[in-house]
This record gives sequence, C-alpha cells and structure tokens, in this order.
Amino acid sequence: MAKKVVLAYSGGLDTSVAVRWMAEEWGVEVVAVAVDVGQGGDFEVVKARALAAGAADVVVVDCREEYAADFVAPALRANALYEGRYPLVSSLSRPVIVRHLVEAARTFGADAVAHGCTGKGNDQVRFEVGVRALAPDLELLAPVRVWGLTRDDSIAYAERHDIPVNVTRASPYSIDENLWGKAIECGVLEDPWESPPEDVYTLTRPTATASSRELVVTFEAGLPVAVDGVAMPMHELVGHVGGIAGSYGWGRIDMVESRRVGIKSREVYEAPGALALIMAHADLEGLTLERDVFHEKLRLEPRWAELVYDGLWFSPLKNALDAFITETQRYVTGEVRLRCEAGRCTVAGRRSDVGLYDYGLATYEAADSFRHADAEGFVRLFGLGVQTWAARQTRA
Ligand code: ARG
Repeated sequence: MAKKVVLAYSGGLDTSVAVRWMAEEWGVEVVAVAVDVGQGGDFEVVKARALAAGAADVVVVDCREEYAADFVAPALRANALYEGRYPLVSSLSRPVIVRHLVEAARTFGADAVAHGCTGKGNDQVRFEVGVRALAPDLELLAPVRVWGLTRDDSIAYAERHDIPVNVTRASPYSIDENLWGKAIECGVLEDPWESPPEDVYTLTRPTATASSRELVVTFEAGLPVAVDGVAMPMHELVGHVGGIAGSYGWGRIDMVESRRVGIKSREVYEAPGALALIMAHADLEGLTLERDVFHEKLRLEPRWAELVYDGLWFSPLKNALDAFITETQRYVTGEVRLRCEAGRCTVAGRRSDVGLYDYGLATYEAADSFRHADAEGFVRLFGLGVQTWAARQTRA
C-alpha cells in the first residue's frame, strides 16, 4: 500500500472528503494538487480548504497558458467535436492535470496518484490511463470508487470532520469548468426529455443589447492570435470571443452522450468561445487547405476527438494524428469575420493572403481566366467508367 499520495484536488466536496478519508482509512499522507485551468474561483480558498481537510501539503499550479498552448490549441486545430458536438471541455483538461500530478509525485516522492472520480464516468479513465502513460510505476487510487458514500453521506462526513465545503443539499448540479467551456450534469438534467432550466447557464446568458455585432478573428498557422486587430494570448482570446458570443445567448449544447464506460448520459455544455473558434477555424481551412488534405483531415478529426475523449491523449495514434494535423496547418492563416446576433453566431466572411481561392478561376464575370475548353475532355474521361457501365446495362 502506498504511503504518500498525490491527489487531484478541485476544492469540491468529493476531493475534500477524499483528503481526510484516505488519511484515516488508508493511513496515507496526502499532497493535494490544485490546477488552475481557467475554472475561476479563489485558489487561496482552495488551498486553505485542502489544509483544513488534512492535506500534508498543497500545490497550486496556474497552468492556463500551458493548457491553452499544449491542449486547447491542438484541439482547435483538430476542430475536435466528440460525437460531432462536444468540444471536449473536460476531456482536454485531464491530461494537463495528469502532467502536474506526475510532476508533483516526483517532487514529493509520492508512490501513488489519486483522483476523486466515480466509477461511472470518463474522467477516471483519463486520469488513470494518462498516469499509466507518463509514470507506469505509480499506483492509482480512486477512493470515491470504493467508499460507497452517497452525496448526503459525504456532506455529513465533511460536517463531522469540520471540512469546510460550500455545497448545500439544494445545489443539485455537478459542474466542471475550464477556459474551453463548462460541463453541467445531474439533478433535473438526468431526464433527457426535460429542458435544462435557464439557471444552469452562466456563460451563455443573453445580455447583449445590440441587435448584432461582428468580430474579426485573425489566425496564424491554424491558431487564433488576434481579435479585431488586437493581439491576445490564446488563453485570454478564448474567453474574449466566448464572452461576446455568449452574451448573445449562443454556445449551448444539450445532448445525450456515449461515455467510454458504456453509459449514455445527458450532458449540457456551454462553450461559446470554443464553438465560435472551431467554426471560424474550420471555415478558414475551407479556404486554405488543398482539397485532398482538407477531406482527409475531415475524416481524421472525429477519430482525434474520440481518442482524446477516451483518455488516450498520451498515446501513439494520437501523436501520429497530431503530426498530420500540424503539417496541414502551415497555411491556415487569414481572417474570419464572425457575426453575433440574438441566439446565434455565424461566419459572415473570410479572407487569406495564402488562400486557394482564385477569383479569375471562380468568377462568372469578364475577368474569367478558366480554360473552358479543358473541361470537356476532363469530364468525358471522368465519366468514362460510368458511361461504359451504363452502356452494358442497356445491352444486357
Ligand atoms: N461528459 C463529459 C466528459 O466526459 C463531462 C464530464 C464532466 N466531469 C465532471 N466531473 N463533472 O467529458
């Protein structure tokens, strides 16, 4: 049995109870690792809470920049949407947390890594497979999977042990948030037929008073670098774009999702920044990628999303797909104009100095430079096989 454990600590009820429970039941020393991935909140409070719960040490890592650069950026370049809709919000933050758990385990000489996930979700898979990939020698502990406490039991346990947690029995949702968006589960949402109550939404409340608004996103090599001509680091740019699109009440997802562990679950997400940027980026690819590359990438994107959803961030196929995607992004440079209006955000225009749009080839006006005579032979040969086949059908 492990002696020293590094715990992925969120400051929430389960991980706070886990600190004390592991110390009492398993006699281990717990180092709490809290990672700032843009979820907001006060990390001084989180730190104090971990210590109050009985952690021997607390590490707080601000990895917003690292998260944006190493995890969100590849997801955007992959236009990653699991099951065509979910921009991998929680799936993306787990591997960066894993990276820091392993680092802390080495720093503190821990022999195990623990997380506060239940046995029903995807996050346990992402933590455990991720740790196995980076540090196969570390033991993995999942106290929530073994303790058998209901939510009310956990609240009672926290009260009994003077662990300060800011949940009440009345707040029914399970929320996971980072700079790429927000996942909302549980409570009334567990009935997939029920509409999500308006109060579950915080990032996509219609507040904009203007009837419409445009914003221009500048991309360089597949990454957004500026909005309306103002350069911004990516971890801020996502929130900036999301703040605007969200203020028009746009950026919500309500779906039944296929978890890796075989469960269908009702998921509600808010990801106005992620959805707007993926839409803009994918649109710019339409202008800048050669057709075969573009189509091959469209085929591989769902696979990339599925791998990351399944917890295989650190895996050979994911690395190989990244190499392909990186190669495709060299000329994904240009500008996309987004228009936000009540309840929606759309692409209104795009341009690029390295785009493949050739006005002379495309136009039906006088500037036409297309060699019309070439078309006849091309189409004849292109259709020759079908023509031969059709002739046989007629004969037979
Ligand atoms: N279903 C989503 C996913 O698997 C969201 C998970 C949210 N996690 C949470 N602990 N509430 O990526």
